Amino acid sequence: MEILNRSLSDIATTIPGASALLRQLDINFCNQGMVSLQQALEHKGLDPEEVAAGLAELEMTEHHHDDPAIDWGKEPRMKLIGHILERYHARHREQLPELIFLAAKVERVHSDSANCPSGLADLLRDMSHELESHMMKEEQILFPMLAGGIYPNGPINVMQDEHLEHLEAINRLCSLTNNMKVPAGACNSWRSLYLGLQTLVDDLMRHITLENYFLFVPPKATSSDCCGSCQ
Ligand SMILES: [Fe+2]
Ligand SMILES: [Fe+2]
Repeated sequence: MEILNRSLSDIATTIPGASALLRQLDINFCNQGMVSLQQALEHKGLDPEEVAAGLAELEMTEHHHDDPAIDWGKEPRMKLIGHILERYHARHREQLPELIFLAAKVERVHSDSANCPSGLADLLRDMSHELESHMMKEEQILFPMLAGGIYPNGPINVMQDEHLEHLEAINRLCSLTNNMKVPAGACNSWRSLYLGLQTLVDDLMRHITLENYFLFVPPKATSSDCCGSCQ
């Protein structure tokens, strides 16, 4: 199937719902975005036909989804920057305060439960603080440079290192919450919290993938840009 030859970053950013499916399979498309789906599935010992069929079904499904199936490699940089600011930066800023509130409530009310995600509110506060600082640097320094056609290696490397830190925070979040699986008998706040965390994690992983594999790469040189030294 053709989809097996596509890269993880392409699949995660163009098929609505694919990022959640890949996350559930423990396939890290943020770090291994250039790896093909076939290679990733072979590495995990998963059935390629089954996963490809699931993704093909998602691709065919009529989605009322706010992650449009756009090949960002072919779109103007300004359009991608606008999409990242509106769909991800603004959304993270909306999501995190409510999640911190809910986590603190669940930790307070269910502190005697064996499944209580103790320390989750503090982790989310740290994530919120780190993300805010990171997004401000992108908004004030890096994105304006990229919009002007400048690709500064230093600031891009710093942002990519911070993306790795965000992914480490996601790993801690998953281990604190048993991969966001709602325990039997959980109250509505607990359910709402874990549902919101799944959305946050999916959003953050797609956000990082769009930046690492589509925005933080210089446009391919065309023959008219060539200086001639390679010929
Ligand atoms: Fe960003
Ligand atoms: Fe970023």
